Amino acid sequence: MKFIQLFDRSQIEARARELGREISDHYGEEPLVCVCVLKGAYAFFTDLMRNLTIHPTMDFVRLSSYADQTSRKSKMVFSKDMEIDIRDKHVLVVEDIVDTGHSMSFLLKVLEARGPRSIKIAAMIDKTERREVDVNVDFVGFPLDRGYIVGYGLDYAEQYRELDGIYDLKFSEA
Ligand code: IMP
Ligand code: MG
Repeated sequence: MKFIQLFDRSQIEARARELGREISDHYGEEPLVCVCVLKGAYAFFTDLMRNLTIHPTMDFVRLSSYADQTSRKSKMVFSKDMEIDIRDKHVLVVEDIVDTGHSMSFLLKVLEARGPRSIKIAAMIDKTERREVDVNVDFVGFPLDRGYIVGYGLDYAEQYRELDGIYDLKFSEA
């Protein structure tokens, strides 16, 4: 396996600063709840939150998918749900990477039913090649068209989350 660095720590930090400013300007004094999607988003969430000049409340969710015996699709559930009530508040969901879009569209649907004032998405990586559901990322760290990415929270089989850069994982010497 080979790791090809796409973004180093200083590039990620610079981008988190820009996004932090953009998000702060966007919401201003409005009540905002920032939601970290575990586990992958933990590193990006931390850096992004530290770059805000506003004071949101924060919460965490974790999704898991399991095979549905009655259809070929997989089903998504919360393995950890939010604790803060989002009714009439602005919600910013912070994800590591949006790929096919299935997890985001599930999460948005569930959260929308709880009556927030608005929902937007921030994702460190917006990977468009395999998009199957129409999901629009409002605050994009870095757009990518292809590849399997690890580091800075992102895993391959639960490893490599600790890397402080973002790497394209090459499985063979193709
Ligand atoms: P989805 O395909 O948009 O539903 O993405 C589901 C989840 O798969 C993401 O939140 C990530 O946790 C994971 N994922 C998708 N692409 C990658 C990748 O390139 N590296 C690591 N994890 C990924
Ligand atoms: Mg994820």
